Amino acid sequence: MNQSSVPRDATRRSPLRVAATLIAASVVAAGAAVAFAADADAASTLGASAAQSGRYFGTAIAAYKLSDSVYTTVANREFNMVTAENEMKQDATEPNQNQFNFTSGDQIATWATSNGKRLRGHTLAWYAQQPGWMQNMSGTALRSAMVNHITQVATHYKGKIYAWDVVNEAFADGGSGARRDSNLQRTGNDWIEVAFRTARAADPAAKLCYNDYNTDGQNAKSNAVYAMVQDFKSRGVPIDCVGFQSHFNSNSPVPSDYQANLQRFANLGIDVQITELDIEGSGSAQATNYSNVVKACLAVSRCAGITVWGVRDTDSWRASATPLLFDGNGNIKAAYTSTLAALNGVPPTDPPTSPPTSGPTTPPPTGGACSASVTLNQWNGGFTAAVRVTAGSAALNGWAVTVTLPSGATVTNTWNAVAGGSSGAVRFANAGYNAGVPAGGSTEFGFQGTGTGPSATPSCAAS
Ligand code: XIL
Repeated sequence: MNQSSVPRDATRRSPLRVAATLIAASVVAAGAAVAFAADADAASTLGASAAQSGRYFGTAIAAYKLSDSVYTTVANREFNMVTAENEMKQDATEPNQNQFNFTSGDQIATWATSNGKRLRGHTLAWYAQQPGWMQNMSGTALRSAMVNHITQVATHYKGKIYAWDVVNEAFADGGSGARRDSNLQRTGNDWIEVAFRTARAADPAAKLCYNDYNTDGQNAKSNAVYAMVQDFKSRGVPIDCVGFQSHFNSNSPVPSDYQANLQRFANLGIDVQITELDIEGSGSAQATNYSNVVKACLAVSRCAGITVWGVRDTDSWRASATPLLFDGNGNIKAAYTSTLAALNGVPPTDPPTSPPTSGPTTPPPTGGACSASVTLNQWNGGFTAAVRVTAGSAALNGWAVTVTLPSGATVTNTWNAVAGGSSGAVRFANAGYNAGVPAGGSTEFGFQGTGTGPSATPSCAAS
């Protein structure tokens, strides 16, 4: 039970269809006054693009924000999994011992279900965000209270939860590999397995996860979690998944062995989930980090999905570090574009095959497969670039233009092509509807960016 591998959607969409819908997404999201016919029903959102490989893309939701229409519009459009940011925690659901309050948790559950989204439960047993009465308990009384709490909460939400974070953050940071000291830990080392068995009894259909941070790469802490999962599997303690919170910043960057770490846990016969992703920063560095996280998950067949810890930067628990995919106005960031592209499997930016030539942006002589020229509209801090793609002596059935941006420039929006990156050498591939260009004919695409626009002649290749 609950051990099956991640279901796969057999109807993976063609790259052309993906390309067309990517364009539709960027135009719609930017509100640009550009109209054209494009198939907009496929992978133009995070949720839909993740669903192409049977995965989900979720967000943390705060109940008190459900009356904010910008918030709900973005959340409803982009995500297909929801985690209650605080509303299902111990202090929220059992404010007084044995008096349960599901009001705000239910608001989120209802919003999720009525909008066709699945729900992750967070969290049943944790050293933090305990109600005052629980903080003051210990020993067998606390153990019984924990069991009662898990039973009541998991029973209340039974049938509505895709996965529960049964136990959160039970291991210590640093090199000890020890359990974190807490009142729950002091009830006996078996408190975690008791929590999992209790959750399984209350809601047998929910996947049961252990969730933690600083376990994203291989280190003493993740080794200790790994050993616990191995032990649980060998003794039949019910566990179905491990959640990797993935709160990243310059002190805690995306580890280089992130994918390998996810894979070694998956090899234990459990799912892995990225449960609270946020990456502090901005611009192309943040965008690259996000796409690297997505690529790591996509490369691990039992990586079931990704949840970001909030919708807009201003919704984040670390708002000042702008760690999310939408800005405070709900507009997409470069990190959104790179995340969507990674989910859609758009190939990474190709390095230029030869050094870009400097000088005026005139097209090279035709005769090769194609050439490209740029008309730049530059203002202080930003630009738009119109790129004309001209076929050589043979018709094109697909093309890709690589534009080299000066350092500091970032592509924020693209039309009539699919951007494979947002900074440095950016490869723009044709959209589904403009792949074909007759011999000697031309087509045009464009992009908007921040910083200084390109001055070098782009390279163009048939694809
Ligand atoms: C955070 C919430 O985002 C904040 O609103 C709250 O004040 C504190 O908790 N690890 C977890 C999450 O498992 O529950 C935490 O959420 C962030 C760290």
